[in-house]
Amino acid sequence: MILVTGGTGLVGAHLLYHLTLKNDVIRAIYRTQEKREHVKKIFSFYTDDIDTLFSKIEWIKADITDVPSLQPVFQNISHVYHCAALVSFDPKDYRKMRQVNIEGTANLVNFSIDAKVEKFCFVSSIAAVGDAINGKPITEEDEWSDNGDQHGYAITKYGAEMEVWRGSQEGLDVVIVNPGVILGGGFWNEGSGKLFSQVYNGFKFYTEGITGFVGVTDVVKAMMQLMSSSIKNERFVLVSENKSFKELFFAIADGLGKKRPSIKIGTFSTELFWRIDWILTKLTGKTPLLTKNSAKSSHNVSFYSSKKIEEQLPFKFNSIENTIDIVCKEFKKEPI
Ligand SMILES: NC(=O)c1ccc[n+]([C@@H]2O[C@H](COP(=O)([O-])OP(=O)(O)OC[C@H]3O[C@@H](n4cnc5c(N)ncnc54)[C@H](OP(=O)(O)O)[C@@H]3O)[C@@H](O)[C@H]2O)c1
Repeated sequence: MILVTGGTGLVGAHLLYHLTLKNDVIRAIYRTQEKREHVKKIFSFYTDDIDTLFSKIEWIKADITDVPSLQPVFQNISHVYHCAALVSFDPKDYRKMRQVNIEGTANLVNFSIDAKVEKFCFVSSIAAVGDAINGKPITEEDEWSDNGDQHGYAITKYGAEMEVWRGSQEGLDVVIVNPGVILGGGFWNEGSGKLFSQVYNGFKFYTEGITGFVGVTDVVKAMMQLMSSSIKNERFVLVSENKSFKELFFAIADGLGKKRPSIKIGTFSTELFWRIDWILTKLTGKTPLLTKNSAKSSHNVSFYSSKKIEEQLPFKFNSIENTIDIVCKEFKKEPI
């Protein structure tokens, strides 16, 4: 049987839908009933027959940092898709991220080894891949290194990958995917979903930083193809296209029929803004709108190459234009 962690999140929920099309029963872990019910919303983007497919999921309440809760989860499991993680650029979440992303992954790897799991797929990130050398596109071969300037999320995703590679040394067959910024529907208040809700609500600013983007459907299809292939102990960058935030915001605005952001923000303004925001969050205790790391990332220019997966599998990425069109249509069904 297949096990999915993080099934109540963006990647996991879309993955569950695609897995239910091909399997009679899938096990997934959840933490709250509310988040579990939300998965039905993601299914509704694809089908009218939500209940039939949703009923194929056997849900077990578990936390990846709570070892006893994982005990019943691993019975009769042959394949694991590990999508659960804490994604945050807020420095105050660093300790928690270490616990969830590194220790949680170590727990799942240990259980998988004990349960003689046949294959383990881990969702890492381009944050755990190295920087470009001489401006060349970044690939799986570019090793991540802690140059003292890495943010907490990157450190913990790299640490989690180390646990997965350790598992492979102990006999577990693994594949790792390193997606760029994932665009997908259903989580409009979190992560990349916020890009859509902010533009919809009239966000006026953009930067000219460049990074890799990929649609959530491409991510889950690549994971499923890798899991059913003979490929093992390899990692794959998943980036459909490299785009500037300006291009991205303009395309989202066009797709939502909203005004394009019109104010270009330079590095000086973002440097100033995150510092003011830092003081305000200290005074109010609220979650920061912009952190030092996200301010820096918004100006970074990094190009990624996904040639490897296209060479090793019969796999073609959807264009970002088409992905944005799909996500905008999903957003318009229920704007927030
Ligand atoms: N979104 C992106 O742009 C992006 C890009 C590259 C890589 N990734 C990676 O892709 C993976 C999935 O990301 P996502 O965007 O789907 O994240 P997400 O929407 O924030 O979902 C995170 C999932 O992890 C679960 N989770 C968190 N802590 C947990 C714990 N202690 N025990 C059990 N489950 C826990 C959450 O459960 P609850 O619902 O209960 O909170 C949720 O199901 C992550 O590994 C992330 O690092 C994401």
